[in-house]
Amino acid sequence: MNSIVSCTQVNYQYADGAQDSRIIKNLDLDIKPAESIAILGQSGCGKSTLLNLLGGIEKASSGKIIINGADLALLNETQITKLRADNLGFVYQFHHLLKDFSALKNVMMPLLIQGEKSLPAKNKAIKILTTIGLEHRINHLPSELSGGERQRVAIARALITQPKCLLADEPTGNLDSSNANEVLDLMIALNQAHGSALIIVTHDKKVAEKMQRVLILKDGRFS
Ligand SMILES: Nc1ncnc2c1ncn2[C@@H]1O[C@H](COP(=O)(O)OP(=O)(O)O)[C@@H](O)[C@H]1O
Ligand SMILES: [Mg+2]
Repeated sequence: MNSIVSCTQVNYQYADGAQDSRIIKNLDLDIKPAESIAILGQSGCGKSTLLNLLGGIEKASSGKIIINGADLALLNETQITKLRADNLGFVYQFHHLLKDFSALKNVMMPLLIQGEKSLPAKNKAIKILTTIGLEHRINHLPSELSGGERQRVAIARALITQPKCLLADEPTGNLDSSNANEVLDLMIALNQAHGSALIIVTHDKKVAEKMQRVLILKDGRFS
């Protein structure tokens, strides 16, 4: 089976870092479609940096990163933006919803950016918001939603383009345990329903237990 994400001997150091202050060191990673993976590791070990590398937001200092068959090093910014939009969804610890737009508009936005017409985008957004039990909240602003509801909207927004891989950076870090469970189960259910890969960076061992594979990032690579 083809990999959705493949990293070979990836190194990364921030441009302003001291010499040989590599955050990511000779890292290898291979993720197949529909896999679910937890990435654990101490604060500051480079988990967010790694997700940014996979999303083409940061560029590897050396090594190869292949996303759905495309070598990131061979693409220009426009091509990377398109590859990201077509293949990846991101969820962060803080929802990053647009505060002046309703839940519905926030979820429609990735489709509108891709050039989809308003009506089909709206119908798809209503469908996914209904799937995640927020049909009664579609016209609410982020400020009118609870923390758990906001995070569910952020997940709907990340999934509306049907990405092949969802990258979630401590998605439940800001939620109480019952909301965290709900959000996590939702991501797993959607991952299974769509056969998309799920990568969750987390501190929470309970989150990790629900994933098929657990990887621990230490000294810049998986131990
Ligand atoms: N923009 C940046 N410039 C320089 N160093 C950074 C930058 N962002 C993060 N770092 C450093 O890189 C290391 C890894 O950060 P990060 O990937 O955010 O870790 P984690 O997500 O595991 O907590 C930390 O030491 C952090 O201080
Ligand atoms: Mg982080």
